[in-house]
Amino acid sequence: MIYRGKTALITGASAGIGAVFARSFAAKGADLILTARREDRLAALAAELKKAHGVRVSVIAADLAEPTAPDDIAAALKADGVNVDVLVNNAGYGLPGAYTESDWNVHRDFLEVMVTSYAHLTRLFLPGMLERKYGRIIHVASVAGLVPGSSGHTMYGASKGFLVSFAQSLAAECDGAGVTVSALCPGFTYSEFHDVNDTRPLVSQLPKYMFMDAEPVVEGAINAVEKGHVVYVPGLWNKFVVWMMKALPRPWAANAVRAQSAKFRRGN
Ligand SMILES: NC(=O)c1ccc[n+]([C@@H]2O[C@H](COP(=O)([O-])OP(=O)(O)OC[C@H]3O[C@@H](n4cnc5c(N)ncnc54)[C@H](OP(=O)(O)O)[C@@H]3O)[C@@H](O)[C@H]2O)c1
Repeated sequence: MIYRGKTALITGASAGIGAVFARSFAAKGADLILTARREDRLAALAAELKKAHGVRVSVIAADLAEPTAPDDIAAALKADGVNVDVLVNNAGYGLPGAYTESDWNVHRDFLEVMVTSYAHLTRLFLPGMLERKYGRIIHVASVAGLVPGSSGHTMYGASKGFLVSFAQSLAAECDGAGVTVSALCPGFTYSEFHDVNDTRPLVSQLPKYMFMDAEPVVEGAINAVEKGHVVYVPGLWNKFVVWMMKALPRPWAANAVRAQSAKFRRGN
């Protein structure tokens, strides 16, 4: 019950890793604000968690591709007098194909959801955390942010690399202020991610040991955050991949990703 009396805002809470974060924080006593586009899903999860854990749960439907969405969320919370103690920036998706296959507006929306909304929500809620001398910010990044980029899904790794570096800088700035900032870097995780971007048939051919359930990913992340880890990679396989990519000379690592990525990324 270490989060009793705290309020956690979770983006992308309607499915996958975000929904598991919601269940875990509720079980640990936190009140919740759940956001995503699918309001019906959020409402069903809110009802489940209120009943199971007796916590307060509110729902704010928002499309984070809209540049005004973070301000709208903050304004709604301010109007209700709600402070955010824990921010889980998690909403995300993959954009298959080569860079020139998608129009700029598709890439712009991607950057808005995957990068700008994370930075914007952090800018909105970090000052209150610093003032109250308590805060936890978790950016859901990826192993893809720690290894060389692949062909196809061109800006995915870049967007996740941004989150890792952003978390490291903010963690340094917040050192000693009661606020922690962490990047969670999962590898393949069972969720709706690969259904949404239509790569399920491709990734289903990968060996099962490369996948994790979302529950250990989230529990490991929350433990790591409370231990003060800034970058957390869940699972032995993912740790091995990251270690190997760092140990190899950079051109070899880049070649290894190029050779392997067609197995799980739809390129050109
Ligand atoms: N699954 C993996 O293998 C894996 C590996 C590494 C990292 N990750 C990262 O983990 C995070 C969560 O992904 P997941 O695996 O849990 O996928 P998921 O099951 O597809 O869930 C994605 C969540 O993001 C929300 N979302 C997507 N676009 C949005 C938008 N425009 N505005 C607001 N919310 C939006 C979705 O809600 P709505 O559709 O209702 O809006 C959903 O709640 C992502 O950042 C992803 O990059 C996943």
